[in-house]
Amino acid sequence: MSKVKVGINGYGTIGKRVADAVNKQDDMEIIGVTKTRPTFEARAAADKGYDIYVPEDSIAAFKNAGIPVKGTVKDLCKAVEIMVDCTPGDVGEIYKAEYEAAGIKAIFQGGEDHSLTGISFNSSANYSESWGAQLSRVVSCNTTGLIRTLNPIDKAIKITNVYATLIRRGTDPGNSKGGPINGLEPSVKLPTHHGPDVKSVMPWLNINTMAVKASTTLMHLHTIVVELQRESTTEEVLGIMKASPRVKLVKSSSGLKGTSEIMELGKELGRNRSDMYEIVVWEDGVKVVGKMLYYYQAVHQESDVVPENVDCIRSMCKLEENASVSISKTNKALGICR
Ligand SMILES: NC(=O)c1ccc[n+]([C@@H]2O[C@H](COP(=O)([O-])OP(=O)(O)OC[C@H]3O[C@@H](n4cnc5c(N)ncnc54)[C@H](OP(=O)(O)O)[C@@H]3O)[C@@H](O)[C@H]2O)c1
Repeated sequence: MSKVKVGINGYGTIGKRVADAVNKQDDMEIIGVTKTRPTFEARAAADKGYDIYVPEDSIAAFKNAGIPVKGTVKDLCKAVEIMVDCTPGDVGEIYKAEYEAAGIKAIFQGGEDHSLTGISFNSSANYSESWGAQLSRVVSCNTTGLIRTLNPIDKAIKITNVYATLIRRGTDPGNSKGGPINGLEPSVKLPTHHGPDVKSVMPWLNINTMAVKASTTLMHLHTIVVELQRESTTEEVLGIMKASPRVKLVKSSSGLKGTSEIMELGKELGRNRSDMYEIVVWEDGVKVVGKMLYYYQAVHQESDVVPENVDCIRSMCKLEENASVSISKTNKALGICR
């Protein structure tokens, strides 16, 4: 079987991870990645064997830096069947016309608006909505986190209302420009955009969100209160979470007290870049009282959307019709247990 030809536009935090994840699958391959500047990441991509494509006006800079260039971004568009756009938020929309002109499919990330594609993607919740689509959008790291745990609970018990507070990492570990470096910044535009973003995949869900930016780079942490349609038990909810794909239960009592220890666990598991693709829920922090469910979860912002991008390619390129089969295939290739 020939492999689907994939390009990555924007080889940064998300792009480099999606590139490696795609290359681990047996039904798709990376044809090339794009960079605009000849940075250490461009050099690392070349050293890994990725062909590098650049905008016309960057060719000279790459030549000067001695980094080989295979062609222009336009050339990459001609060479692939699908582009995974991982450029910074709001830059992707500039490329939409170029992908359409080349007649290729394109996946955008959560930094773009839902209206750019009309379809937003999560592997478990709505895999089939992107089946054969020309354009789709993998929702943001926080939205992916919320949907991963809320969708299975809603399927099993039905949710009346969700109230979630997102304690967001100030910036990514490799970025020295973000912040705050000391303090906590509440998002004062309320409710925050995260609730409507969840609705781009689960339009029926009543969800209300607030957010606080914190001086940490490791992970986001969500505190979630769910009003269920019927009474439940802590055991029932834990059973649902244990059976949910890409949700990992850990115990605070086993030493995994916070996000520092969870990222340490990623290193212990020997993951590529010590990534934690799963949404991590503290088992001993899940509690049901009547119809009210309370839990905490941690989201590794740099990597939770990576397996979803792989599944999104499979759905859009009609490689596998069954979501569960695609999820298992991606998980196996990335070393995710469930
Ligand atoms: N980081 C996260 O926590 C996270 C999580 C989930 C989703 N997302 C979403 O994923 C997308 C990418 O975010 P990111 O964090 O990976 O950003 P990033 O680390 O800044 O990477 C973006 C890459 O795009 C390149 N780029 C910049 N301008 C470009 C242009 N005009 N054309 C082509 N490439 C360009 C940049 O490198 P050069 O300019 O050096 O080539 C950079 O490597 C955004 O939509 C973001 O909202 C981010």
